[in-house]
Amino acid sequence: MRQNLFVAALGLVTGCDALLRFGCARLTVQRLDPLVNPGQIPSSHLHQIIGGNSFNASMDAKTHDLAAMSTCTSCQFSEDFSNYWTAVLFFKAKNGTYKRVPQRSQSDISTTQGGMMVYYMTDALFDTAQKSTVTAFKPGFRMLVGNVGYSTRNEARNFRQLTYICMQNDGTREPETVNFPTKACPYGIMANHRFPTCWDGKNLDSPNHQDHVAYPESGTFESGGPCPSTHPVRIPQILLETVWDTRAFNNKADWPTDGSQPFVWSSGDPTGYSSHADYLFGWKDNSLQKAMDGHTYVSAPMLKTQSIAQQNKCTVPDMVKEDIDSWLPTLPGQAM
Ligand SMILES: *[C@@H]1O[C@H](CO)[C@@H](O)[C@H](O)[C@H]1NC(C)=O
Ligand SMILES: *[C@@H]1O[C@H](CO)[C@@H](O)[C@H](O)[C@H]1NC(C)=O
Repeated sequence: MRQNLFVAALGLVTGCDALLRFGCARLTVQRLDPLVNPGQIPSSHLHQIIGGNSFNASMDAKTHDLAAMSTCTSCQFSEDFSNYWTAVLFFKAKNGTYKRVPQRSQSDISTTQGGMMVYYMTDALFDTAQKSTVTAFKPGFRMLVGNVGYSTRNEARNFRQLTYICMQNDGTREPETVNFPTKACPYGIMANHRFPTCWDGKNLDSPNHQDHVAYPESGTFESGGPCPSTHPVRIPQILLETVWDTRAFNNKADWPTDGSQPFVWSSGDPTGYSSHADYLFGWKDNSLQKAMDGHTYVSAPMLKTQSIAQQNKCTVPDMVKEDIDSWLPTLPGQAM
């Protein structure tokens, strides 16, 4: 069972191992994708991006040092200059126009502007012992989870843990579905992105940004499944939680009359099966490894932190300059 970790953590005895949980504010929302469409301004679909402000249309793995080139980060841990991004949720009105769905911060970081909650774990979320060891990512490491081209449940099975939660309140953490919720969700829709947890130990990236990482050979990261021999190095599990604030769009009268649900990813997907997220590692020096070895749960006294006000101030310029906030006749970059 998956509970709200913040609520769970309050009741915990300390002395457990490493699990980081921290908020990151919106860095920018624009049509850029330095991993899949490097140099392309604009890229194919809209993304919401968090992390270090060295984020740019091109971020060559060999020359772009995220920690050295960033002067701020939108994340609470101020040594994390990584970038993380996902697609953006839109509401499709009955008249065919689209409206961008705002993001909502979880209640304990409620003044964070947009963004996501980020986790790095050595063991399953609610294993408070967090006793396993993991190897932190190396500079230049990047990966992609999910597939923007997927439109069926069968395809979506290739990625085990890209899910949605129909939130009744801030604490709702189940059930998780692989499709968009089919009913209105009073508190919003949480999108969960869990990245693979096994690495080949050699390649910082691969042509599809996926082949250098893998899921455990059997079981799951949560059940402690072993890494396959092709990808023997156990890396931290990254989990991203994004809460899409659907409250303004929950009136049943505004929903399609055929019984379908009205939300679509910025790529045009109305099913939810195309869920995907990107990660470019950018922690300063060995700060992440230190934190993963650090015997802490949620808090991490060995890491530097900053205020939410400082997080909110970290942004990057709008390089695409297009309207993403009106009622739009088409999704940005998508045909009718
Ligand atoms: C992004 O890259 C361009 C081209 O290299 C550069 O001119 C610009 O300053 C960069 N933007 C940021 C915010 O670093
Ligand atoms: C389409 O519907 C939305 C939501 O009801 C409304 O705000 C918008 O003005 C409408 N646009 C047009 C062109 O009718």
